[in-house]
Amino acid sequence: MQRIIPAILTADPAELREGLKILKGHANWVHVDIMDGKFVPNSSVNLFELGEASQIFNIEIHLMVESPEKYLEDCKSIGAKRVIFHLEAAENPAGVLQKMEEHGFQKEVGLNPSTPVSKLAPYVAQLDAVLVMSVNPGFQQQEFMPEVLSKISELRKLKQDITIGLDGGINEQTVTQAFEAGVDYACAGSAVMKSSDPMAALKHLEEIIS
Ligand code: DX5
Ligand code: ZN
Repeated sequence: MQRIIPAILTADPAELREGLKILKGHANWVHVDIMDGKFVPNSSVNLFELGEASQIFNIEIHLMVESPEKYLEDCKSIGAKRVIFHLEAAENPAGVLQKMEEHGFQKEVGLNPSTPVSKLAPYVAQLDAVLVMSVNPGFQQQEFMPEVLSKISELRKLKQDITIGLDGGINEQTVTQAFEAGVDYACAGSAVMKSSDPMAALKHLEEIIS
């Protein structure tokens, strides 16, 4: 599995297209941040701006939205491979997971920094992956919160073979502690996409953890 997944967070369709163009041939997976201005105080491009991107990349959609179930049909249309919704945003997480199963997505739940792992316990059997947030969701370039790292071993105790991702504040200073804590993958937004040389930045992060 690709261990550093570049993350694109933008409200500008041109910036999304440019980001995808830069990553083509260098990344298998791309993490796309979708926001509704309600679950988080920021908004993003619409899912359909992804166009045919799923023919080139494995796309994981990070839904930072209220009522995530309303977005699943659109995730299907654009060919998403993995979909992440927030436990905090769903009234009926088991129902969302059931719909995701029907659509054939890899099923992942995001956990805000203040949400304890224990809240996931009822759903863990249905999950393929968990995304531990190491910033409060909504923006790039925020400071990494090392206190969330203890969630990783807690999650492994709940389900040994679950895929664990970390999202927020990953850069050359923080990536080592993330992998030492046992994550399977980490999303890197600004450290890659806002770098003057995104491909070199991605390669550098990969080298640090290899
Ligand atoms: C934060 C998003 C992250 C973000 C990461 O709300 O979910 O995926 O794009 O960006 P950095 O790596 O800059 O924290
Ligand atoms: Zn994200």
